[in-house]
Amino acid sequence: MTEHDFVSLTYDTNIQDGKVTWESPSNIALVKYWGKKKDQIPENPSLSFTLSNCKTITTLSFTKKETLDKSFTFEVYLDGGLKEDFRPKIQTFFERIEQYMPFLRQYAFKIETKNTFPHSSGIASSASGMSALALCLMSVEKLLAAESTVQVPEDFFSANYFNQKASFLARLGSGSACRSIEGDVIVWGNTVVIEGSTDLFGIKYPYQVHGNFENYQDTILLVDKGEKQVSSTVGHDLMHNHPYAKNRFRQAHDNLADLKVILESGDLNAFNALVESEALTLHAMMMTSMPYFILMKPNTLEIINKIWSFRQKSGLHISFTLDAGANVHVLYPQDQSQEVLQFIKSELVAYCQNGHYICDQIGFGAIQNQ
Ligand code: DP6
Repeated sequence: MTEHDFVSLTYDTNIQDGKVTWESPSNIALVKYWGKKKDQIPENPSLSFTLSNCKTITTLSFTKKETLDKSFTFEVYLDGGLKEDFRPKIQTFFERIEQYMPFLRQYAFKIETKNTFPHSSGIASSASGMSALALCLMSVEKLLAAESTVQVPEDFFSANYFNQKASFLARLGSGSACRSIEGDVIVWGNTVVIEGSTDLFGIKYPYQVHGNFENYQDTILLVDKGEKQVSSTVGHDLMHNHPYAKNRFRQAHDNLADLKVILESGDLNAFNALVESEALTLHAMMMTSMPYFILMKPNTLEIINKIWSFRQKSGLHISFTLDAGANVHVLYPQDQSQEVLQFIKSELVAYCQNGHYICDQIGFGAIQNQ
């Protein structure tokens, strides 16, 4: 497939207005995306678990404009309040996707959004937020196409096309967002390791996954809820001319090949080693960029050390991963939840800002609300 497969016809419809709502989850990468080319094409493939509880819920209302003008017309609300500072990101998103969504200038949009996690939690809401918006736009396109007087090809209405294009659009909003449309394991980025993988959108992981990963748990420890000093976009950019970039990109392919074996065998020791190494490599790339930066906080390291000593003492299968921030994602199998949660409460909560953490687990993707 190429991006041309996602270019739509201009619909000719009489639909004046409407409203659609989607709930879309966040996701946690095990093999990380860090470094991108033009048009949000990743430098290396990534693999993530879709989450279940950390979600964005977005309602998109649309009204046909009286007169066509050259601008995009939209308002964004978060938790009922007008959010002017969200505008630039959405403006850029609309500019990037306009050629694939020809109705964007014909309608005025009201975007009402809320998250199930606190906005100031330091959790990246761009994956759930951009995927929810992309899905809403796909639903609008589907409504318009269904009423169009211009013939629309039959396969336009397939679920497969819908999900692929939603992921494709979400990617243009935020790379990792393309992995939030479906669940439970998603791969994004072209690699010989995974059949059908592509740089254009996320695909469902096509191989067997061992029962050990069923309902896999992710407890997110909120170490620092403040604004990050360096955004992901800037961090990705610093991978250009990075001294270790070439090896890192190659390593991601190798780690995916290893993870494929691990996901099939259910070898949790190997799983823990691989995901922790990926997390630390991501942060090592940040520390060795020029300019260099550190997103971990002292409490991030305290937690990592506690996890390592608890794992050694208890023999339980607990590990961590990190996003581009200070928060720690604690990963463990569902049947060890009781012991691990006990450990989190007694030993790790002290390192969380205001004692806050969020219990989540592997999930199955976005859903439309009627
Ligand atoms: C560290 O998807 O937030 O979470 O494409 O610039 O929006 P943009 O970046 P973003 O980068 C996320 C990077 C990561 C790893 C990952 O999710 O794979």
